[in-house]
Amino acid sequence: MTAENPSSDRYEFGANWASFIDNHYSAERRRAAAHKLLSFLGKDSLEGMDFLDIGSGSGLHSLAAFDAKAGRIHSFDFDPLSVRTTARLRQLAGEPSNWTVEHGDVLDFDYLDKLGTWSLVYSWGVLHHTGAMWQAIENAAGRVAPGGLLFIALYSSNVVKPSAQFWLDVKRRYNAANASQRRRMEYWYIWRFGLGQNPLRLPQLLRQIYEKKKGRGMSYMTDVRDWLGGWPMEFADDRAVVDYLKNRFDLVRISTGEACTEFLFRCTSEVKARRS
Ligand SMILES: C[S@@+](CC[C@H](N)C(=O)[O-])C[C@H]1O[C@@H](n2cnc3c(N)ncnc32)[C@H](O)[C@@H]1O
Repeated sequence: MTAENPSSDRYEFGANWASFIDNHYSAERRRAAAHKLLSFLGKDSLEGMDFLDIGSGSGLHSLAAFDAKAGRIHSFDFDPLSVRTTARLRQLAGEPSNWTVEHGDVLDFDYLDKLGTWSLVYSWGVLHHTGAMWQAIENAAGRVAPGGLLFIALYSSNVVKPSAQFWLDVKRRYNAANASQRRRMEYWYIWRFGLGQNPLRLPQLLRQIYEKKKGRGMSYMTDVRDWLGGWPMEFADDRAVVDYLKNRFDLVRISTGEACTEFLFRCTSEVKARRS
């Protein structure tokens, strides 16, 4: 499911990530991010692996890879403020020489070509925000070394409620709104979808907020803004993603049921870089 861009603007992802780190960064979230990364990969550490973070956002998951002892780490993002925020976390880690951060576009074939291939390519919640999701999947897959892993998360068309079109319309309005209108839409979201229009569901909402923190180290409000604003935006059918990669990748693990389906693939053959 694809939609035309409602405006020429992209959502300001980087501002949301900068605010996340300013207001919510903690050692606890840092540990949670590393724990979640390793547990989905089924590993105790990333020793012996390198890590390419496509669309690093806050940089928390690159930092998690650093904490998990990945060898070479490279983080890039399209949004300059995401790049700056990731660089701040690199600084916090002591500016390690094995970790580089820069501006880059997953749709820029020449840029990607220069990066070579990696034993672990990670792109969580990014490829569906590029405006050309299948090309972005192709380009990310092309960075995986033979035998290497591809860990991606994509908004799933299989679980979205009430409908993909409903959310595309909401996003259109959110991106066109001023700051106070956006704030009202965030409250509306919490009331309707966080609480299900029932104040007695507050304990469940508090549990959800806690689980977000424990899960990937994220914050509920940062994710609400990212969900309402994130644009461009596409949804992917889970089966279609597996089918798209099946000639070159084995599916190792899949986690469904949340807004983003997480996929872990292993590259079974040399992925020929493709320009399309
Ligand atoms: C929803 S955030 C996810 C951030 C991070 N991966 C995480 O899991 O927290 C999406 C990120 O993808 C970045 N992005 C969007 N289009 C991109 C592109 N064409 N190339 C690289 N990054 C892109 C955005 O700037 C944003 O920081």
